[in-house]
Amino acid sequence: RIFFVFTMFALLLTGCEEPMSNVLDPQGGAGKEQLALINLSVYIMVFVCVVVFAIYFYVLIRFKQKPGDNTIPEQVEGNMKLELLWIVIPIILLVILAVPTLQTTFSLAEKAPKEQRDDVVKVKVTAHQFWWEFEYPEYGFKTAQELHIPTGKKVFLELQSDDVVHSFWVPSLAGKTDLVPGRINRMKLDADKPGTYKGRCAELCGASHALMNFQVVAEKPSDFDKWVEKRKKPSSEPQTVAQKEGKKVFSQNCMSCHAIDGTNLKVKGDKAPNLTGFGERKKVAGLMENNEENLDQWLKDPQSLKPGTYMPGFSHLSKKDMSSLQEYLRSLE
Ligand code: CUA
Repeated sequence: RIFFVFTMFALLLTGCEEPMSNVLDPQGGAGKEQLALINLSVYIMVFVCVVVFAIYFYVLIRFKQKPGDNTIPEQVEGNMKLELLWIVIPIILLVILAVPTLQTTFSLAEKAPKEQRDDVVKVKVTAHQFWWEFEYPEYGFKTAQELHIPTGKKVFLELQSDDVVHSFWVPSLAGKTDLVPGRINRMKLDADKPGTYKGRCAELCGASHALMNFQVVAEKPSDFDKWVEKRKKPSSEPQTVAQKEGKKVFSQNCMSCHAIDGTNLKVKGDKAPNLTGFGERKKVAGLMENNEENLDQWLKDPQSLKPGTYMPGFSHLSKKDMSSLQEYLRSLE
């Protein structure tokens, strides 16, 4: 019966929307180093289990009470050799486990080199309830929900939190690192191949913890450079009448929290995700595919999609204002 319940539960889990990327199939150097640690501890555990169970069953069989034999076996207490053996062997095993674990832990939390280097990218990650902010101090801009990185280069992350404890986790690139208010944690990661890797918040942080998703977009260095250049340029000005109207609606309703770089709409404070290039993002609010229907739903009633978000709903906007606002947002490159 228990087996049945577990099977049903496993089936339920397979119904989850998108499969998580896989820790056991790492796509970069940091992930591979961490997998090597997982493997090492699994090998040691398997070795210990095999030895212990082998001795256990040997003793069970070898010293089984024979029929008719009621003598009490020899009583032994304290065996120096044996006791030393089971103290020394675990110590050796723990040292074998500890040395590479500490080495990897410290090397993956290394500080970024001070000087600007071609093979290194620095990103400041700030977690908010319930979204992610990515700042590129060397290039002088910020983005949200999508972390762009070049393949084959070391990405040094400085992680901090704006409110409560969160945890940064991209299963196929690197293990979890907590973001703790008032403190900076560091981690290093890299991706071998271009691709989009799923990221999650891995520390319970409020009502929408389970929805605090982000993407890591790894691109060939040349494509990454193009993205950086594009991001540094002023945002495209609205072209159509609707887009111009939409920009007005934006400045009246959204500007106190959201910034769009390269326009006269830049705000200080960054209370909400920076929306520069929003039209090119893959997701709305890091959650749903970036299309008309989802954007409409998000703007009208964000609470229904991300409970506890600070974003208020804008269902009170007129139909015309709402559609021009969306046209403007979609036009942002
Ligand atoms: Cu942020 Cu969970």
